[in-house]
Amino acid sequence: MAEATHFFPRDFLWGTASAGYQYEGNSVNTDFWKWEQGEGHIAQGHKSGRACDWWEGRRWQEDFDRASADGHNALRLSVEWSRVEPTPARWDEDALDHYRGMLKGLRDCGLTPMVTLHHFANPLWVADRNAWETGEVVALFERYVRKVVSALGEHVSLWCTINEPNVFTFFGWAAGLWPPGKKDIRLALRVAQNVVKAHAAAYHAIHELRPQARVGLALHTRPAEPAHPGSGLDEWAARTQFNIFSGLFPDAVRTGMLRQLFGRPVSVPEAKGTMDYFGLNYYTADVVRFDLTHPGELFGRRSFPPGAEVDDAKINALYPPGFYSSLQWARQFDLPIYVTENGIGDAADRMRPRYLITHLRQLWRAVNFNWKVRGYFHWSLVDNFEWERGWTHRFGLYALDTDTLVRTPRRSAQLYAEICKSNSLSSDIVARYAPELLETMFPG
Ligand code: FCB
Repeated sequence: MAEATHFFPRDFLWGTASAGYQYEGNSVNTDFWKWEQGEGHIAQGHKSGRACDWWEGRRWQEDFDRASADGHNALRLSVEWSRVEPTPARWDEDALDHYRGMLKGLRDCGLTPMVTLHHFANPLWVADRNAWETGEVVALFERYVRKVVSALGEHVSLWCTINEPNVFTFFGWAAGLWPPGKKDIRLALRVAQNVVKAHAAAYHAIHELRPQARVGLALHTRPAEPAHPGSGLDEWAARTQFNIFSGLFPDAVRTGMLRQLFGRPVSVPEAKGTMDYFGLNYYTADVVRFDLTHPGELFGRRSFPPGAEVDDAKINALYPPGFYSSLQWARQFDLPIYVTENGIGDAADRMRPRYLITHLRQLWRAVNFNWKVRGYFHWSLVDNFEWERGWTHRFGLYALDTDTLVRTPRRSAQLYAEICKSNSLSSDIVARYAPELLETMFPG
């Protein structure tokens, strides 16, 4: 075995990602909270409850200390619209103070913030007005963003307007798995247009208020490989799925054109060029086979890459080549890249060390080709409320006891700490955390 160290660039950001709803607890004024109360919506009837108690108990303090002690130098969190604007145009200054305290807390811990302005959950009043469907959301979101950026902008230079527009739109309006629980493709496409417009409005507003800010989105990218390379039909099905699910939004904010599958492209000129960086969320990849019996999935039957290990919820595969190809794809946008999420739901921490090491190896390859990768945010620091999967799907470097709120480090927390502290991935680290990978990663 060869001994070697893969170094990352100086000033590389190492951190974790989080979201208000999943961490704060008791986000009672949101559509997702209401949804949670409905029968059959959340696995095993789980409730978000106090979540990680970042709001009432301000347990963000202990978590920021953990991140800092583990050598992280960045953290992604979200501001919850429902807390800042509980009813239309009524601003909760205490909530803004709370977020200001968090941002100062990050600074005191040496953690650079990346702040997301919309991470899936909506204020109830926004949902009640169907604002994402009617388009009213564009002005409402801009007003909220102006308020937040005016209040907090001096503490933040990296903004993320909307988290995973594709997942938000698809789960809420096409798959019916999240609020408002609709299954209507036409409506989903209308929502998609409004998401692009809301993002564009936010982008311009942030730049007006803070010209130096860097603004982007967190874009969920799910590569699709043809089951039989060379088979025209499989290739068509894979490409179609990728373009519509992963490509639609990034393409729209680059070109100002929303190229839907059916009908004419919709022009949203104000969205053109509204990304200062590419925020990449990568979890898993699909192999796609053309199948006439699958019209609902655009004639593509999806499966996991052959032989890949899958996580606890059986929805994500450990497939690092998919991460590399996502980075390669993101690179064509010719923007700095931040990996805004990447991780695995693995309560036993059986796969996570391997997941971390193999994915960071792909990241290092990208960095080594001088691709402009600037940072990596692992999902996530602590187990948190995983939407429709409740507490059944655990992504934390730290395990959470939801009764006592005690956090216990998984082995991966230590592994990630070693990587962050040394700004590198070495054969020595691999030997200690995933020796089974040594021969393939460091042959010789
Ligand atoms: C992403 C979401 C994030 C979290 C991870 C596991 O799609 O952005 O909130 O749920 O999945």
